Amino acid sequence: MSTTRSEHQEQHGDAAALALSFSGVTKAFGERTVLHGVDLDIAENEFVALLGKSGSGKTTILRIAAGLDDATAGAALVNPRRTVVFQEPRLVPSLRVSANVALGLAGDSVRARARDALREVRLDELSGSWPGILSGGEQQRVAIARAIVREPRLMLLDEPFAALDALTRLEMQNLLFTLREHHGFATLLVTHDVEEAVYLADRVIVLVDGVIDVDLDVRHLGTERSRTQPEFIAIVERLLGELGVDLTRY
Ligand SMILES: Nc1ncnc2c1ncn2[C@@H]1O[C@H](COP(=O)(O)OP(=O)(O)OP(=O)(O)O)[C@@H](O)[C@H]1O
Ligand SMILES: [Mg+2]
Repeated sequence: MSTTRSEHQEQHGDAAALALSFSGVTKAFGERTVLHGVDLDIAENEFVALLGKSGSGKTTILRIAAGLDDATAGAALVNPRRTVVFQEPRLVPSLRVSANVALGLAGDSVRARARDALREVRLDELSGSWPGILSGGEQQRVAIARAIVREPRLMLLDEPFAALDALTRLEMQNLLFTLREHHGFATLLVTHDVEEAVYLADRVIVLVDGVIDVDLDVRHLGTERSRTQPEFIAIVERLLGELGVDLTRY
């Protein structure tokens, strides 16, 4: 059973600055155990990238963090001010872009907040458009605007840029970096892209068969990172090795 952060604070009387705290989180689907006692803390404002082979349990962790699924055992304590962005933008086709961003929000200031969020993702000119005419990258920016307008303290992202072309993906990585600097939300980013993980994160973790195998602090790379830094390349190669990727040609 997962518990909310406020319940956690009531139980422990401490308001430790964590956006997420998993302790011994286990998840089974029927007979099959997918997560085997995952321990993971994410501090407020911290950016954690989660790597792992297909089927290793990354989305399962994210769904539990999002409250979309319960752990079978262990405690998943998560700041309730969390929001999720998936690989596909999941926009409502019958609502204009601005209405998609404002969906589910109430109050007088909603229109202005939606407009501000769209400006932040540089889409204000398309606020009156239908989602269907937008490019994939633009649709994903709408999905991100819909997330930030809710002012989350924890942003959960499941391969948000995986379906985009390589150049758009680089732009989206910089956009995410800027938004996070501006808003200060904690982030859990699931990605297959090792460079993306090292470029953006404070910590990179690798999930192997439902267990966290590597938890690597990469803050020493600084905030102005370059993919050509020797130290950057060395970390990428190490992580590819952890993921079992063979870099020799054959
Ligand atoms: N609802 C479900 N019922 C049964 N099995 C499931 C369910 N959801 C996930 N699984 C299984 O759990 C394992 C982990 O799935 P998960 O989606 O977390 O992997 P992933 O690391 O996100 O993979 P990918 O990189 O391909 O997205 C997979 O073997 C999957 O088949
Ligand atoms: Mg997945």
